Amino acid sequence: MKSVLITGASRGLGRALYDHYLASGWIVLPLVRDPVVASEMKKCAPEGQCYPIVSDVCSTEVEESVNETLTQVGKLDLLINNAGIPGRSSGLENTSAEEAEELFNIHVVGALRVTRAAAPFLQCAAEPTIINISSRLASLARSAAGEFADQGFSYTYRIAKAAQNMLSVCLAEEFGPEGVAVFAMNPGQFVSESAVSGASISAAEAAAAIADWVTTHRQVDHVQFSQPNAGIIPW
Ligand SMILES: NC(=O)c1ccc[n+]([C@@H]2O[C@H](COP(=O)([O-])OP(=O)(O)OC[C@H]3O[C@@H](n4cnc5c(N)ncnc54)[C@H](OP(=O)(O)O)[C@@H]3O)[C@@H](O)[C@H]2O)c1
Repeated sequence: MKSVLITGASRGLGRALYDHYLASGWIVLPLVRDPVVASEMKKCAPEGQCYPIVSDVCSTEVEESVNETLTQVGKLDLLINNAGIPGRSSGLENTSAEEAEELFNIHVVGALRVTRAAAPFLQCAAEPTIINISSRLASLARSAAGEFADQGFSYTYRIAKAAQNMLSVCLAEEFGPEGVAVFAMNPGQFVSESAVSGASISAAEAAAAIADWVTTHRQVDHVQFSQPNAGIIPW
């Protein structure tokens, strides 16, 4: 059986990815912060298919928790760094250093921590893959071209997602030659608690499209910044 670890699996896209892979017969390791949510997920899943990890990607203990649970499963086919929060403010004057640190900690350092813990287990899989859930707002090229000007998007979210894209590039550089495929994936605008207006698809539709895209576009010779059904996004 294939296995997938999904961070931020309690709701939104992470939960939809969890539902999708569980229904597809994968072993699923949902990383959630709430122990009650974790035990409900385990209780509702078929025996031996759900291994919840109760942790916060910003905590220093997350690496140990991921390592402990992955040791029980043995190998990891797919890691999805999905946990994230939106920025709260727009404009320099309203952007606090605290908010910037918080967003950077979740989207970049959190993904780094979980990937560090998962890497030895990914290397045991036949076709290991990492998906870092990015955003169209991470694109330096599109931002610099003025595409998002005057729309009130936060500094902090765009900075953090752009930095996370560089994490994807670094990971592909190091692990691509070992057979690990890395995706910086814009899921598109889907309905969730954190969605900005303009969402056009459900989280379930976004999850199914991601799973399909990864199956058909997996490659290890370069990292892709892409959106399912829309194609490559300029960095
Ligand atoms: N919504 C969109 O249209 C859209 C578009 C582009 C990209 N994205 C990205 O897609 C991802 C999922 O977004 P969403 O809209 O599904 O968000 P959401 O519904 O708000 O869910 C966010 C998830 O992340 C978890 N989380 C937040 N901080 C965490 C932490 N420190 N440690 C562990 N888990 C944490 C939350 O857990 P709790 O339940 O414990 O809070 C929740 O499960 C994010 O990375 C977001 O930036 C979303």
